[in-house]
Amino acid sequence: MMKEKSVAIVLAAGSGSRMKSNTPKQYMDLGGKPVIYYSLYAFEISSIDEVILVVGENEIDYNWEHIVKKYNFTKVSKVIAGGDERYLSVFNGLKAIDYADYVLIHDGARPFITIEILEKVLLSVKEHKACVVGMPSKDTIKISDSNNVITSTPDRKYTWIIQTPQAFSYSIIMGAYSKIIDDISKGLGSNINITDDAMVVEHTSNYPIKLIEGSYLNIKVTTPEDLIIGDIFLKKSLH
Ligand code: CTP
Ligand code: MG
Repeated sequence: MMKEKSVAIVLAAGSGSRMKSNTPKQYMDLGGKPVIYYSLYAFEISSIDEVILVVGENEIDYNWEHIVKKYNFTKVSKVIAGGDERYLSVFNGLKAIDYADYVLIHDGARPFITIEILEKVLLSVKEHKACVVGMPSKDTIKISDSNNVITSTPDRKYTWIIQTPQAFSYSIIMGAYSKIIDDISKGLGSNINITDDAMVVEHTSNYPIKLIEGSYLNIKVTTPEDLIIGDIFLKKSLH
């Protein structure tokens, strides 16, 4: 049998509004290198075959020169423009894939992804066809209404904080995204706030999605304090 091909879509097309910085957070300094360097490095040394990097439409040349060439990321085959929302950036990434059996979607703003987690994801997606990395929630999660009044409390045993990579067979994820984009274009489901890839599959099929443990270190650099935490992780070699 031919070796199955896995392609990663690494997302770096966001504006980083919650970081409140002039430089988009994916290019900010973390231990002497840009935030985006770290996840691309983990993919480079993993057994993933190819990486598609999704960036802001005016940042394609910058990324080729100052990220891909500079750090010699040989697995990056394409640097493409994202869209206005994360899910549109993912869809652009999916459309740019020439061939894949499995697709791993990763937030470029998660620099502490490790090769161990990536290899675990690859094994799991081959077995389950749909899996996402997360960690059991340490805090109790509550659901509120729009007035911030609690409406329910799920059993903490069953609550997870969700990270990336999120990995799927190509047909599941391409099918799910094509359907949701089509629905939205017809005005159906346009009120849903799509914040991860699993929920696209959840909304468009009954396909079971396996949760696999990542790491509490696999944070998303989102607000300024996350860079301080990230510096500590690097200094203590917790990555
Ligand atoms: N992302 C993307 N395209 C978008 C929005 C987000 O590729 N239109 C990427 C971000 O670059 C990031 C990941 O998706 O790697 C997770 O998104 P988030 O942490 O929300 O990043 P931003 O959208 O950039 O930040 P904010 O929501 O604070 O503006
Ligand atoms: Mg965002």
